[in-house]
Amino acid sequence: MFDKGVGLDVRNGSQRRAQSQMIEAERMSVIGRMACSITHDMRHSLTVIYANAEFLEHHDTCANGRANLLLEIQEAVLDMTERIDSLLHFSRSGRNNSFVRERVSLVVEKAVAAVKHHPDGRNVSITRGKFPPAEADIDARNLESAIYNLLLNACQAATRSTHVPEVTVLITEVDERIYVTISDNGPGIPTSVRKTLFDPFVTAGKPNGTGLGLTLARRIAEEHVGSVWVEESNREGTEFTLSLTKNRSLR
Ligand SMILES: Nc1ncnc2c1ncn2[C@@H]1O[C@H](COP(=O)(O)OP(=O)(O)OP(=O)(O)O)[C@@H](O)[C@H]1O
Ligand SMILES: [Mg+2]
Repeated sequence: MFDKGVGLDVRNGSQRRAQSQMIEAERMSVIGRMACSITHDMRHSLTVIYANAEFLEHHDTCANGRANLLLEIQEAVLDMTERIDSLLHFSRSGRNNSFVRERVSLVVEKAVAAVKHHPDGRNVSITRGKFPPAEADIDARNLESAIYNLLLNACQAATRSTHVPEVTVLITEVDERIYVTISDNGPGIPTSVRKTLFDPFVTAGKPNGTGLGLTLARRIAEEHVGSVWVEESNREGTEFTLSLTKNRSLR
């Protein structure tokens, strides 16, 4: 027979074991999510590297042009390395990228610059409104990736427009919320995927689409106490909005 103290010890011991199993399961699930998101982003970086290598083969590219193409390759490799490092860091330490107070417009500008390096973004005119200096608690790398995915979708749709391909990016601020709106003049979301757009592996009309871009974008927005949704989509174009909350502790 256990006396009361021993009984408590056994209970505490099994509670502790259950708790550490839960923590480990959560850690493995975060590693899985991070690996999925990193693999998705790496595909885009590899596309940029491949396209630039092809351009470099053209002997008529001027010295300045070659230098820019090489710089883009180096940036893409550095970006992939940093993402892999962050996964390794998390799997060793259990600590994720922290949220830092930063200007959202800086992240949006970086995403716009990055998508212009992608072959599907090169010939699209991307217009940006006047960005407010709004700050929020953000995981800058993930937020940039979410906005990049929305921008890339918009550019890919716009290139299928019968008009000159155009994409517009706006940032608005309403009380505690910041909204990033991305619109394009593409042919609209295919009816076959309208209802399942944000589910994993749903893709239509793209030979190499994995169907993860919108799933990841929404998940990242949710980590910022926000979301992603379709404002409007018709034969003249599509508009997506990503929202986030300035102060995560007010959730
Ligand atoms: N701006 C848009 N205009 C029209 N259709 C869109 C737009 N954005 C998304 N879609 C549709 O939604 C589908 C899912 O988008 P999602 O970004 O999740 O995957 P994907 O672009 O196919 O692949 P990837 O994983 O490479 O992003 C797309 O395949 C496309 O058919
Ligand atoms: Mg996509």
